[in-house]
Amino acid sequence: MTEPNARFPHAMAPIQLGRLTVRNRIFVPAHTTNFGVDHLPSERHLAYHRERARGGVGAIIFESIRVQSNCLGRPQAVGGFTRDCIEPFSRLARAVQAEGAALLGQVIHLGRQVDGDFERTVSWGPSPVRWSATSAMPHAMTPDDMQTVIDGHVQTARNLIEAGLDGLEIQLGHGHLLQQFLSPLSNTRTDAFGGSLENRLRFPLAVVEAVRSALGPHACIGIRVSGDEFVEGGLHLDEVCAALAQLACAVPLDFVNVSHSAYHASYSLATQMADMAFDPQMFRHLPGAVRSALHAAGAPVPVLSVCRYDTLAEAEDMIARGQADMVGMARAHLAEPALVAKTLAGREDEIQPCIACNQGCAGMLEKNMPIRCVVNPRAGVEATWAEPAAVPTAQPLDVLVVGGGPAGLEAAWTAAARGHHVELWEAGDALGGQLQALQAMPSRARYLQLLEHQRRAVQRHGVTVRLGRRADAQAIVARRPDAVVLATGSLPVAPGLAGGGRVFGIEAALRDPVALGDAVAFADLTGEWASLSVVEHLADLGKRVTVYSPVAATFWRTTIYSTLATSRRLRDKGVRLAPLRRLQHWDGHALQVEDVSCGDVQTLTDVDAVVIAQYNLAADSLRAPLRAAGIRVLEAGDCLAPRTAMEAVYEGAGVAYSL
Ligand SMILES: Cc1cc2nc3c(=O)[nH]c(=O)nc-3n(C[C@H](O)[C@H](O)[C@H](O)COP(=O)(O)O)c2cc1C
Ligand code: SF4
Repeated sequence: MTEPNARFPHAMAPIQLGRLTVRNRIFVPAHTTNFGVDHLPSERHLAYHRERARGGVGAIIFESIRVQSNCLGRPQAVGGFTRDCIEPFSRLARAVQAEGAALLGQVIHLGRQVDGDFERTVSWGPSPVRWSATSAMPHAMTPDDMQTVIDGHVQTARNLIEAGLDGLEIQLGHGHLLQQFLSPLSNTRTDAFGGSLENRLRFPLAVVEAVRSALGPHACIGIRVSGDEFVEGGLHLDEVCAALAQLACAVPLDFVNVSHSAYHASYSLATQMADMAFDPQMFRHLPGAVRSALHAAGAPVPVLSVCRYDTLAEAEDMIARGQADMVGMARAHLAEPALVAKTLAGREDEIQPCIACNQGCAGMLEKNMPIRCVVNPRAGVEATWAEPAAVPTAQPLDVLVVGGGPAGLEAAWTAAARGHHVELWEAGDALGGQLQALQAMPSRARYLQLLEHQRRAVQRHGVTVRLGRRADAQAIVARRPDAVVLATGSLPVAPGLAGGGRVFGIEAALRDPVALGDAVAFADLTGEWASLSVVEHLADLGKRVTVYSPVAATFWRTTIYSTLATSRRLRDKGVRLAPLRRLQHWDGHALQVEDVSCGDVQTLTDVDAVVIAQYNLAADSLRAPLRAAGIRVLEAGDCLAPRTAMEAVYEGAGVAYSL
């Protein structure tokens, strides 16, 4: 067998970022967790990052640390501009460093993205240009405002270094304030800070210069940039390379972290956390081009690459080919904190793979809630739920899990890993529950990796699986397990409309798309990912789909970080969106659609089929008889109320920890 490090000689080699030695080339990029308390790093942060440091990465870049109160934006945002941050940051740094990883902090002013409602301040930007149609109009910054931002960066940088962090990343990317100055889309100034590239670079350069001069030549200071904004009229790679060459020659930098995108309410934003619909190859040329430009300018600074890296093999390839010096994996580590360690130990099949769904991480970020992960229910609750095997039960129980969907599978393997004797009954002939429907949709196939991971875990931990075993209360009572976990899911409700024409549910539409004909009226009553996935799939099959939703939005329970790209794809595929519409009557020939804003009704005759996406009903009929028989009953997932795989997995883990 080859030595693990011999498999990844480049990715596992140490690297110098200025005077900082990092043990290997894999890092966790900054990602806002919303775990902050009183604008300070919390115990939750500590447990979260310690686990990822222990998992083998070389460095962790702590999430966006605000340099001023006017860009806090939300209660959980972390600030670095007051001295009370020093103590909690010191504890965090010590915890990460004790595991052998370096801790850097990302310092940031968000500029126009912050609408100011939280601190009741005006939003700041280079020019009065909003980032989206729903956002606040920013105040065009004066030279005094710019000095305040420079001072905020310097103060924050000093505090973080005093706290013992190993270095800093100044945020010049992702469309935050400094990129807003750099980008012609957001900077329309006519003074010395607008117009030519040199002028647009002036303020970001002044910030970086001030931080370098305050911290001295030995501190590890890098920047994060967007190699491309992926929006017409915005920054593109050649201009970014030219700006970086100027910047790196003017101020010594210890690394350049190349991401992409801008906070721009368009496709651009969706590229930042590209979901499973993106081909990651579209980002891979960016770091190499920046690296070449820096080398050509005589500033051969280490270049970091990010976005949709899943494995050390991919990182090894990028670094070996000279396209990057380090590779970042944010969501891959949210999903699997021990990605590096498990890979090096040859335990790849135990890795919980990030499925690039954006449901738990980006979805919660958008809601200003603590981030979660669909495949890793422990993300963000590491201090409460240790690895299952690390909290073995003192009293092994005979546990019967009823239902082999995501909730039942998670409950089964987690309970078994804790030492319980677990048997799982599944009525169907395969595991996976509703996730199996994804097999019909190639564009969502990556979701099935969750199922694969759960299946492997169930097998690894010795769960006895009985397929085709339909549970009834009598059989369970006769078996008398110590505890029953009900994960029986939910059942579709037959959809219907006045008029009596045939109406398909989404399962039926997926099963027999030919029966739908060509023109499909799709009423979405849920706003969920399932609807979005089926609509896109039907469009991929060449159908003309119109999506009717009763509210003023479409797919309203999915995240903007994905839907800004999906809406572009749906448009390209000819899908029509009709918000504020309710289907009223369908006789198989004519469809009546009500405009709910005014009550007008339109009759459509160019419709072949009607599909209605609606919530299932909880399959909870076993609960009462089992409880009446004195059986200990726990429940997880849709049998409580129909929701998504994220809630199912989390609740499945929860019941297993409670046993
Ligand atoms: C939940 C979440 C929060 C993020 N917050 C930040 C942030 O605070 N600062 C930043 O520069 N990038 C942030 N990012 C972007 C990541 O650093 C990274 O560039 C992106 O997720 C793509 O890398 P990945 O595919 O490895 O996740 C965030 C990403 C996610 C998923
Ligand atoms: S929620 Fe989805 S995209 Fe986010 S880290 Fe988890 S698996 Fe990956």
